[in-house]
Amino acid sequence: MKIDPWAATQYSDYTKLKQEFGIEDIDISSLPNPNKLLRRGVVFGQRGFSSILDALKKKKKFAIMTGLVPSGPMHIGHKLVIDQVIYFQSLGAEVFIAVADIEAYAVRNINFKLGEKIAIDDYIVNYIALGLKNENCQIYFQSKRKEVKDLGIELARKTNLSEMKAIYGFADDTNIGHLFSPLIQVGDILHVQLEKFGGPKPTIVPVGVDQDPHIRLTRELAFSTRLYNVLETKDGIGIFVKGEEEDVEKLLNKAEEKALSLGFKNLKKIPTYRALYITDGKKEDIKNIDEELINLEFELGYYGFYLPSATYNRFMTGLTGDKMSSSKPETCIFLNEKTETAIKKVKGCKTGGGTSIEEQRKYGGKPEQCIVFELLLYHFIEDDNELEEIFKECKNGDLLCGRCKEIACDRVKNFLNEMNEKREIAKEKINEYVVED
Ligand code: TRP
Ligand code: SF4
Repeated sequence: MKIDPWAATQYSDYTKLKQEFGIEDIDISSLPNPNKLLRRGVVFGQRGFSSILDALKKKKKFAIMTGLVPSGPMHIGHKLVIDQVIYFQSLGAEVFIAVADIEAYAVRNINFKLGEKIAIDDYIVNYIALGLKNENCQIYFQSKRKEVKDLGIELARKTNLSEMKAIYGFADDTNIGHLFSPLIQVGDILHVQLEKFGGPKPTIVPVGVDQDPHIRLTRELAFSTRLYNVLETKDGIGIFVKGEEEDVEKLLNKAEEKALSLGFKNLKKIPTYRALYITDGKKEDIKNIDEELINLEFELGYYGFYLPSATYNRFMTGLTGDKMSSSKPETCIFLNEKTETAIKKVKGCKTGGGTSIEEQRKYGGKPEQCIVFELLLYHFIEDDNELEEIFKECKNGDLLCGRCKEIACDRVKNFLNEMNEKREIAKEKINEYVVED
């Protein structure tokens, strides 16, 4: 199985995806007021999320980063990621949002002027209307941020064509802009940890699972910039100076100072192995030690990047049952859509109802396979009890699809009307969010 970020594939077997790609379960028990996507399992997995939990626990700074491709209009599938951004912003995350105008140009042939217009008039206005705050938040353009491009160019040295083909399935006729766009995204995700942007910090990237190849590449390239590697060994922990580094003795001495300052006592330095062994260190200490080493690397003038973390959300099914896509308007509800057309689409949705009213009364419906229910679950019903009530009444045949669609249409209508009003206010606030590079 291959995940292709640019293909119109519908993923359905999340358990298999997890197993195959090593995506882990997400434990939300220590998150304050988790939003409905987290509570309801729409966010189904994570990589490296423990760094974020750790930052929250220790009240340390952390960032959330995402990007938007300004090609088609924003729909409710795109809303999932920004809902996550708004939630983590409420927990104190610093927010960075890339307008992926280089990607839009390279992959979708959207010129930079048009990309800017779509980003501002549609996505950014919607983000603000949805509740994104301007404090500690910056929206920038890939094409205008030198640090992003420089980092992409530098880290490009650490990957090669066969790896890019293996990850992305690029073919010989792939244009070089497209080939390079993942490195720009690597630059997006890691530049937030540069000194100019506040230095090393845990960073969470909430994505649809289609973006996982970018996450894996970014984590690999972030690791490639590290001087040290901390591993569990058979009798404790080992800090190893990585192969490219030459001044091994000096680096081991520096690491030793850090280990001592953390209170470890049984240290053994073996320069020929490029190693410092901590025999009184345990597996649970790895995180703290690595964090100290990240700080050390940064003090020494290196990057000291944390490997970025990611959360993965399920895709929304399109209203027709296919993949939701801007290029097929019948599959989605746009955030700036007229209420009449939106209602028409909801009324036409595939449901999990029986073939006749009698049958549905008798056997109940299948909310698990119902797109109307999915709309309510992902977006339009906040209250868990209310949602559960609908689920139960559907299951036992008390609630019929006609009535249920009325509820959904009502919610959709209110949401779109509210967005319309909020967008008018949001339009005046764009430059509180978009930074000039
Ligand atoms: N490639 C992403 C998409 O297709 C957009 C993107 C660009 C992005 N830079 C990013 C997403 C950084 C997350 C982080 O949606
Ligand atoms: Fe879906 Fe509602 Fe019909 Fe149940 S009653 S199948 S949830 S539309």
